[in-house]
Amino acid sequence: FRLPDNISLDEGAVIEPLACAVHGCKRAEISAGDKVLICGVGTIGLLSMLTAKQMGASKICVTDISSSLLEAAKHLGADHVALVESQDAHVIITKIHQALGGPPDITLECSGTASGISMSIPVCYCSQATRSGGVVVLVGLGPHNVTLPIIDVIVREVDVRGSIRYGKCYSIALDLIASGKVNVKPLITHHFKLEDSVKAFETSRNGDGGAIKVLIHCNQEASI
Ligand SMILES: *[C@@H]1O[C@H](CO)[C@@H](O)[C@H](O)[C@H]1NC(C)=O
Ligand SMILES: *[C@@H]1O[C@H](CO)[C@@H](O)[C@H](O)[C@H]1NC(C)=O
Repeated sequence: FRLPDNISLDEGAVIEPLACAVHGCKRAEISAGDKVLICGVGTIGLLSMLTAKQMGASKICVTDISSSLLEAAKHLGADHVALVESQDAHVIITKIHQALGGPPDITLECSGTASGISMSIPVCYCSQATRSGGVVVLVGLGPHNVTLPIIDVIVREVDVRGSIRYGKCYSIALDLIASGKVNVKPLITHHFKLEDSVKAFETSRNGDGGAIKVLIHCNQEASI
């Protein structure tokens, strides 16, 4: 895929995660007017939020254990944010339903392994929070085995779907950036030279200084 002239190398570096977000949203079959819940707003969660908006989501609520990432999400257009402070799924679900004025039609689980907490917690509240007949897409990659309250899948017909990497969504991601429909620039928070790569990884891992997308510039002439 060739970058058009008006897509910078920095934006080009975000096409891969954006394509993953597009693939997850397509797996979820988001359509006009949907209420959407996004669990976890690291890079993939934030890009999923921007993509879901483009696909017609009317209200988006995002959850995370980091208040600084929730601030970033609000800044980028989240309608509601909910800080996950409790391990009790019912507490989290009540917050989400209050924020959205009811259960979400679609839930995107984007926390994966990002946080230290057990993956079972988000997967558990994702399926329980979603409306009957709704869809949960597991975008984040977690451990092999998690506990899923399968009763919601059976009795309330909540569809739980997987999503792996970007499917065939690279060109869609390119178009979204080139057309200006998705602006990825605010997600790029830090720049490092190649020789400072270790520091770049540490910044990204620790989320230092509100780090979201951290870029390492191999090209020394690149503006840093
Ligand atoms: C997942 O659970 C199955 C069934 O209990 C078990 O056989 C398997 O070893 C587990 N996998 C991992 C990676 O824990
Ligand atoms: C990039 O260029 C294309 C045409 O090549 C144009 O349609 C699009 O609006 C431009 N995007 C931006 C963000 O300037």
